Formats: sequence, C-alpha cells, structure tokens
Amino acid sequence: MRTTIRDFQKMRVENQPIAMVTAYDAMSAQVAEAAGVHGVLVGDSVGMVVQGQDTPIPVRLEHIIYHASIVVRLTQAPLVVGDMPFLTYNISPEQAIANAGRLLQEGGVGAIKLEGGEFLAPTIRRMVETGIPVMAHIGLMPQSVHKMGGMRVQGKDLDTARQLLRDAVAVEEAGAFAVVLEGVPAPLGQLITERLHIPTIGIGAGPHCSGQIQVFHDLFGLLEGHMPKHAKLYAQLGTLMREGMAAYVHEVQTREFPTQENSFTMKDDVLTALRANGADGRADR
Ligand code: KIV
Repeated sequence: MRTTIRDFQKMRVENQPIAMVTAYDAMSAQVAEAAGVHGVLVGDSVGMVVQGQDTPIPVRLEHIIYHASIVVRLTQAPLVVGDMPFLTYNISPEQAIANAGRLLQEGGVGAIKLEGGEFLAPTIRRMVETGIPVMAHIGLMPQSVHKMGGMRVQGKDLDTARQLLRDAVAVEEAGAFAVVLEGVPAPLGQLITERLHIPTIGIGAGPHCSGQIQVFHDLFGLLEGHMPKHAKLYAQLGTLMREGMAAYVHEVQTREFPTQENSFTMKDDVLTALRANGADGRADR
C-alpha cells in the first residue's frame, strides 16, 4: 500500500519523523524505495541536477510528467509528489487546477507541490476543493531566485520571519496537507512547526521540522563541486564514478577491457567454416 497524505498527518500527530528525497529516474526511484522513504518528490530540481540548468525556471510541466511517470512505475510504497514548474500555477486557479490535473492523470502522482504562501492561499483552497492534494513550499523558493537575488536563507529579520509565519498558517488554513520549509533559520523552522497542525518538511530548516527532504544527488556527491550547506554526504559516489570511468577509458585504450570474461563464444566448426570461406564471407556469394 502506498503512503497517503493521511499517513503523513498520522506521522505528524505521532511525532514520527517523515523522510523524503527527490527522485527523477529508475535508479533514484529504486534506491529511495529500497531505503523505505515515506515520500518521493519529483522536484523541479530536475532542471539543475539532470538537465544541467542553473535554475529550475526552464523546467516544463511535460518534464515533470515524464519523470513522475517513471518514478511512479518504479515505486510501490512512497507517496509520490509532483512539483509544479514555474508559471504553471500562478496565473489563475483554473490554470493551476488544469495543470495539477495533468500531473495526477498523466504523471500518476498522489499529490502536487507548489511554491507560495499567503498570496497563493486562494489557489490552494480551490485546488484542494477540487480534490488535489497540495504540498506548499515556503521560505527559500528556488523559482523566485531572480526576485530573491540568489538562493538566500529567508526569514532572518523580524518582518520576513513574521511573513513566513503568516504564509505557513495561510497555506494550512487553505487546506495544504504539508508544507516544505526551505532555507530558513532553525529556530524559525521550529516555531512554524510548533504553530502548525500539518507536517513541515524541512530542507535547510533545522532539526525540529516534522520531516526532512533532500535532493538525491546531494546525498551522494553526484555533481562535482556542488554541496549545499544544508546537505550531508552519505556516500561519495561521484568520486567513485569518476575514478571508475577513468579506469574504463584507460583499459579500453590499453585493450585490457574487454577480456574473455566479458566476451561471447561460438562453436569451433562454425568459426573454421567461416574462416575457410574468407573472413568477409564473400566466397559464399
Ligand atoms: O525541486 C526540489 O527538489 C525541491 C526540494 C528541494 C524541496 O523543491
């Protein structure tokens, strides 16, 4: 049975930490599933970690649908959440409902995530009334990177911290089943978590959130020279992969690879007959 948004709520009530990670393809989906994560986000971070973009802004709805359908097919247990890309939900509630509908129908996800607080609450309310489970995302909102002047920690002063509290309460009252808190000071993450009834899922929001989410590639050092402060390296696979790839290239060049072990055989008599006719087979014609 797949984890549902009711399970998320139950875990919040029972104070059981929720573990989420992003996934985009068969490999990340299978690794996440095997580890027993509760939720998988097909995030618009796909723009950076898969497409090699600088920001998530170029990501399109079709990209998330494509990656979500893979992740849904390759997992059985976690709740799969599809991220709504830039400008696919901010124009009108009708636009948001239509595009979220595509993520549910074509991508197969069980919920969607969108970036925005108080100002987006009316849209969230309409989506939830329509039957779409919504995970909100406040604090550092990567789709607003240009407005923020970079990927910066949010809510450090009194005014912005108060606004974040208002944002959190507004999305809960609008019916969001959970809220991602990204890039906020740990004490503010704690305050928001204490104030809300729905789970907070933190990324760079301290240890007191109801759960945590991380970008798959950050956990394993898959992208050279990229390690955000909020992430922890659980295995340095990127270095291992680069060393392995260099060894492969070297062995191809020195003819150490492939060996007999990596090769297929054929019957001697077939080979003898083939050789007798000339290696290019022309004697057969
Ligand atoms: O797109 C993403 O990966 C996200 C997480 C960082 C929360 O939004």
